[in-house]
Amino acid sequence: MKGLVLSGGKGTRLYPLTYTSAKQLIPVANKPILFRVIECIRDAGITEIGIVVGDTEQEIRRAVGRGDRWGVRITYIRQEAPLGLAHAVKISRDFIGDERFVMFLGDNVIQGGISNLISEFANSDYDCQIVLTHVDMPEQYGVAELDEQGRVVRLVEKPKDPPSDLALVGIYMFNHHIFEAVEHITPSWRGELEITDAIQWLIEHNYTVHPYIHRGWWIDTGRPGDMLEANSLVLEELTPCIEGYVDRTSQVDSRVIIEKGAEVINSVIRGPAIIGEHSRIINAYIGPFTSIYHHVVIENAEVSRSIVLEYSQIRDLDQRIEDSLIGRHVVIQRSPIRPRAYKFTLGDHSQLGLLGNG
Ligand code: DAU
Repeated sequence: MKGLVLSGGKGTRLYPLTYTSAKQLIPVANKPILFRVIECIRDAGITEIGIVVGDTEQEIRRAVGRGDRWGVRITYIRQEAPLGLAHAVKISRDFIGDERFVMFLGDNVIQGGISNLISEFANSDYDCQIVLTHVDMPEQYGVAELDEQGRVVRLVEKPKDPPSDLALVGIYMFNHHIFEAVEHITPSWRGELEITDAIQWLIEHNYTVHPYIHRGWWIDTGRPGDMLEANSLVLEELTPCIEGYVDRTSQVDSRVIIEKGAEVINSVIRGPAIIGEHSRIINAYIGPFTSIYHHVVIENAEVSRSIVLEYSQIRDLDQRIEDSLIGRHVVIQRSPIRPRAYKFTLGDHSQLGLLGNG
């Protein structure tokens, strides 16, 4: 079997973080989501992986390379525009050939890996296997309708009136018949070739589409809130380890990872949390469910349930930063200059919550 990871698209819902960089490279618990996806596929025994890329191709190539570090071989497949998940399948025909394959959306994080899923599909005669899970807001996803025998009868993309609460998780398994399907469908109202329509075509032409119900957690990291949620869930599962320096006056919980070269000085760190390589936490409080990426400085400040990306600095704040996603090279500090006024340099679409009496 081969693997196909979709890492094109624009990531508009994560602006401004994704103006200049790929959303699939945003780290969750200090590891880019795309790396987690590659590891998941590799752990299921697949070593030939194609990555569909768009405008952020160069950045993704730089970060992922040829795949040697995971023992896999990566092939990049350029998609000229995000014309849909089924379009991404269409342009991957040469890479896939006639093999069976798993397609994994590069912004999905799933609990427990996909080894079981892959072996179930590999040992079956299904033409396609989809992964479904119960969700609270099915209208935000592709939704499946099953009949009384549990067979898939209909798939609809982001329906206003969902036929069930079973969402399509961004992991799909196919054989070569999907290439016929993608040739027969037409673009949807949003101008994309939808994978749900291609799978519906398989159903209507009597191919076997098997639904696998996933019971653990699963997050599509489309929006900042999802990213924080995924971060919390992954942090809960990490094995604690202290490789950096913690001074005697600091208190570090048992469920904390301090990476190499990091320093924690006169600070409190409540787990689950991770402090990245060469970051410095000085006279600070880091609360649960926080990931501090590499080369960050947090000094005289408090940060909780947040993600702070590389080379950012947060200093001398009176109020705790909470539920925040802070980009790269960001500086947040109190200004010593009078008059006492807020001074910002914010990217387009930034969101900033200020205190009412601030
Ligand atoms: O995450 C699960 C959902 O993913 C499913 O429930 C939906 O049925 C499915 O259509 C998809 O919906 P999204 O709206 O979340 O897809 P999104 O546009 O965010 O794209 C998912 C990934 O695929 C993302 O990493 C970008 C990449 N992509 C997307 C498009 C449209 C491509 O590589 N090429 C594309 O043309």
